[in-house]
Amino acid sequence: MKEYKICIIGFGAVGKGVAKAISLKKDNIKEKYNANLKIVAAADSSSSAISSDGLDEELLLKTKEETGKLESYPNFGGNLNGMEILNEVDYDILIDVTPTNIETGEPALSLTLKAFEDGKDVITSNKGHLAIKFKELIATARENNVQFKYESTVGGAMPIINFVQETLNSCEVESIIGILNGTTNYILSRMTTEGSSYINTLNESQELGIAETDPTQDVEGIDAACKTVILANSILGVDAVYSDVDVTGISQITSEAISLAKKDGYLIKLIGEVSKEELKVSPRLVKQGSQYDLNGTLNMATVKTDLAGDVTVVGKGAGSLETASAILTDLINVIKMK
Ligand SMILES: NC(=O)c1ccc[n+]([C@@H]2O[C@H](COP(=O)([O-])OP(=O)(O)OC[C@H]3O[C@@H](n4cnc5c(N)ncnc54)[C@H](OP(=O)(O)O)[C@@H]3O)[C@@H](O)[C@H]2O)c1
Repeated sequence: MKEYKICIIGFGAVGKGVAKAISLKKDNIKEKYNANLKIVAAADSSSSAISSDGLDEELLLKTKEETGKLESYPNFGGNLNGMEILNEVDYDILIDVTPTNIETGEPALSLTLKAFEDGKDVITSNKGHLAIKFKELIATARENNVQFKYESTVGGAMPIINFVQETLNSCEVESIIGILNGTTNYILSRMTTEGSSYINTLNESQELGIAETDPTQDVEGIDAACKTVILANSILGVDAVYSDVDVTGISQITSEAISLAKKDGYLIKLIGEVSKEELKVSPRLVKQGSQYDLNGTLNMATVKTDLAGDVTVVGKGAGSLETASAILTDLINVIKMK
């Protein structure tokens, strides 16, 4: 049985989801892939837990839940930061689930390059460094002969990157068009069904924990734009960065515009479009009853291909365990390639 030593850097919604998913699936993975998954380090913004014998996933979750930190993990808690962990801990795979930073890509950028240089495989859910340095990251992973996986960066649990690269690998992809942000889809869906104003619906979404306290990344289309960059690079082979995207968010959409559209059989959705010619995120009219007619926080994408025609995927774009499911898929794919 081969052992895989894992470092999880970032222990928020997704990091905790990864620990839970490993706890739930590790026996299954042992049996199916002859692989023993061992979390040897986990870190949040100011604390960590490290053990070469492996940390208990449920105890990690309990410690974080009860104290808000990992340093009180019995006997193995401490205060090493992500980079110190990569320098000091013996590990095989880095799971980077730190916050997205679209300005600098940090801390993910430095952590990922360091892991690559040390010959380690990396799995990430973080969009920031990919949206600004995709080409450099892929090139560095190749130079160091390591694997780099980022399925969960686009659409959380909605299968898209691995699906197109592996299952649709006989086809040329012409474009990808879809709803790539769950928060804005929720707001626009509620405005449509309730006839409510943008600001009231945003407030309601914040109360429900669907929109963040600072909703800018979602409502101004920044999050969806990062995803178009990742899709353009990984699926269409376009060398694009965040500044190449033409972005308009939903903050100017009025309830009047939505009800006018509704009368004519249309909906307003925030649509991301990826082709070799353009990268665009903007509110658009879509037909009621079409594949874009999805309520709530769901994500969808229609992949236009030469041989298979249009293929549409739908799935949960966010959520702790949902996003972790895509990370675990990446982890299994990394193990299978070893
Ligand atoms: N949530 C989703 O459904 C979802 C879906 C797809 C992709 N993503 C992406 O996944 C990543 C994580 O999302 P999330 O929802 O888990 O975010 P989150 O709940 O805000 O958690 C972020 C975690 O990173 C930790 N952190 C912050 N700065 C750090 C640093 N310098 N070094 C180490 N850890 C640091 C935080 O520490 P503290 O606990 O101490 O604050 C926290 O544990 C983001 O890049 C996000 O865009 C999220």
